[in-house]
Amino acid sequence: MILGLGNFNIFILKTKIVKGDLKSPFIYGIINKGDFMLLSNEWIDYECLSAGNGEKLERWGNVILRRPDPQAMWPIKNSNLWNNIDAFYHRSNKGGGYWEYKKQLPDHWIIKYKDLKFKVSPTNFKHTGLFPEQAANWDFSINKIKNSKRKIKVLNLFAYTGGATMAASYAGADVVHVDASKGMVEWAKENMKLCGLENNKIRFIVDDCLKFVQREFRRGNKYDVIIMDPPSYGRGPNGEMWKFEDNLYNLINECLKILSDEPLFFLINAYTTGISSTVLYNILKTTLESKYKGKVIAGEIGLPIKDNNLVLPCGIYGRWENEDTI
Ligand SMILES: C[S@@+](CC[C@H](N)C(=O)[O-])C[C@H]1O[C@@H](n2cnc3c(N)ncnc32)[C@H](O)[C@@H]1O
Repeated sequence: MILGLGNFNIFILKTKIVKGDLKSPFIYGIINKGDFMLLSNEWIDYECLSAGNGEKLERWGNVILRRPDPQAMWPIKNSNLWNNIDAFYHRSNKGGGYWEYKKQLPDHWIIKYKDLKFKVSPTNFKHTGLFPEQAANWDFSINKIKNSKRKIKVLNLFAYTGGATMAASYAGADVVHVDASKGMVEWAKENMKLCGLENNKIRFIVDDCLKFVQREFRRGNKYDVIIMDPPSYGRGPNGEMWKFEDNLYNLINECLKILSDEPLFFLINAYTTGISSTVLYNILKTTLESKYKGKVIAGEIGLPIKDNNLVLPCGIYGRWENEDTI
């Protein structure tokens, strides 16, 4: 199907690009923008069992969690499934929320994604310490780094508990992991040990991302890969304010100054409500692609929903990648 939209001809294709089996493994590619949904559908230890009525039901290893998900606006199909849960996160009217435990759970447990292992634990702010939808980005990073057949230096910004750090290190890269939260950096170190990557070169830094990038420029340090997962709002360790809409473009421009002469890829992930993946596409086009030969694609990230064969949208990504391994 070809749709005319202003000056563009948009080809909406139904192609089998997504690996694995979603029973109907189609994705819709808008070719001239390179808009692809990435589906994280190769998990064994994790699955989204159901979603609807503003919540999702997930299996994390043997543990079933029920958590809010504002995107799940449709009704639940199989309500019986939702009775068998281990813990339930309730939102509070006053903001935040709390976990109600239906059975005693360990403080934390381990889940595996392919050769990587992560600690998961229900946290006060409904998170578990891992974003399972990121697996598609981890797979992309691993393939890209391995296929480059050279030593790759990665900077992971807003790096949280280090999912992307572990993937890049596992693929053989040297990684610098930066996050404002000391607690998250400690969690990432635990993940490093679980993954058996202690002997790899990973530097953990507690710092404000923008300040760190500017410092790296002054020190003359360069990176072949930059990965970032900036939140909507955040604070650096000394109260430095981060606001996605106000600060993203400047941060990317600062990052350009510390890219090596042969960058491999630049990956942005975002969960900020109301930001289209086309925004990431346009920013990468006007920054990375105007300076380096390569290709930009952007789109949504999703998880398969087991009980209705639909996809749960889980944020957006945009990436530039060099042209020799495309
Ligand atoms: C959405 S999480 C990242 C998720 C993670 N990349 C993943 O996929 O698992 C955002 C992280 O940004 C960190 N953060 C927020 N503001 C920051 C800042 N100004 N400088 C450094 N880190 C910041 C938070 O501590 C948090 O760990």
